[in-house]
Amino acid sequence: MFSIEPVSGALGGLVKDIDLCQPLKDNEIAFIKEALHQYQVLFFRDQPLGPDEHVRLARYFGDLQSHAAYDHLEGYPELTILENDLARPPKIEKWHSDMTFRPCPPIGSILHAIVIPGKGGDTMFSSMSAAFEALSQKMQSFLSELIAIHDFSHGFKESIAELGGRDRLQQMIEDNPPVEHPVVRVHPETNKKGLYVNSLFTLRIKDMRESESRALLDFLFEHIALPEFTCRFKWGINSVAFWDNRHTQHKPVNDYWPGERRMQRITIEDGQRPF
Ligand code: SIN
Repeated sequence: MFSIEPVSGALGGLVKDIDLCQPLKDNEIAFIKEALHQYQVLFFRDQPLGPDEHVRLARYFGDLQSHAAYDHLEGYPELTILENDLARPPKIEKWHSDMTFRPCPPIGSILHAIVIPGKGGDTMFSSMSAAFEALSQKMQSFLSELIAIHDFSHGFKESIAELGGRDRLQQMIEDNPPVEHPVVRVHPETNKKGLYVNSLFTLRIKDMRESESRALLDFLFEHIALPEFTCRFKWGINSVAFWDNRHTQHKPVNDYWPGERRMQRITIEDGQRPF
């Protein structure tokens, strides 16, 4: 029978005895959904998923997205490749939720480790509900009134600045103008509140002076990274992480370069805007 073991005080659960390479039974899907709401990020070991199995797994939880800013596996537009080696140093080491530059950011992502470095290359996760609940009532009320602007061009500014980067990403830039999201997001399944600004895509707080917005965002970005809201996952080959993008942030730890690391990711659509 499957089970789950917490990996830290705030979030993260290691799921045992579910074989993700096989079609899932209804009770396994229900268990994973419930566990995801409770633990916010789930980890699985020794799951040698092929691309078809990875796609089948993700489809149990919703429609799949593609991401034109990344390479994908040939024949699988929804299967993004995140690959770094000697010639391609890792670029992003900021805390973030995926694709908050979209009006309806994804429910979550399922990341599968294909090649892992000899040492390092862990991924950190942070619970946005734990980070929100640790704030004073006054601060919670103040933040609950605010709206933030999220922007693709802000998050991908390094890639855009590369030689040929603007041309390569022009369509994404045009398709993704800045969007507004609440600074505090209510999770549609748990009804809990969580912080919903991230240092990669959140540009500023609406209707605040630039200096006020900067100071507030800097405070929140430091707050969400406090160790007590986080967990850290050490990958093995064929480890899988499934995170709820609505109330977590994550950050790869780029301490392995010049080592090689290859991950494959599928991202699951959400049909609704954050509220
Ligand atoms: C991601 O940011 O979606 C990938 C995280 C990782 O590669 O550890």
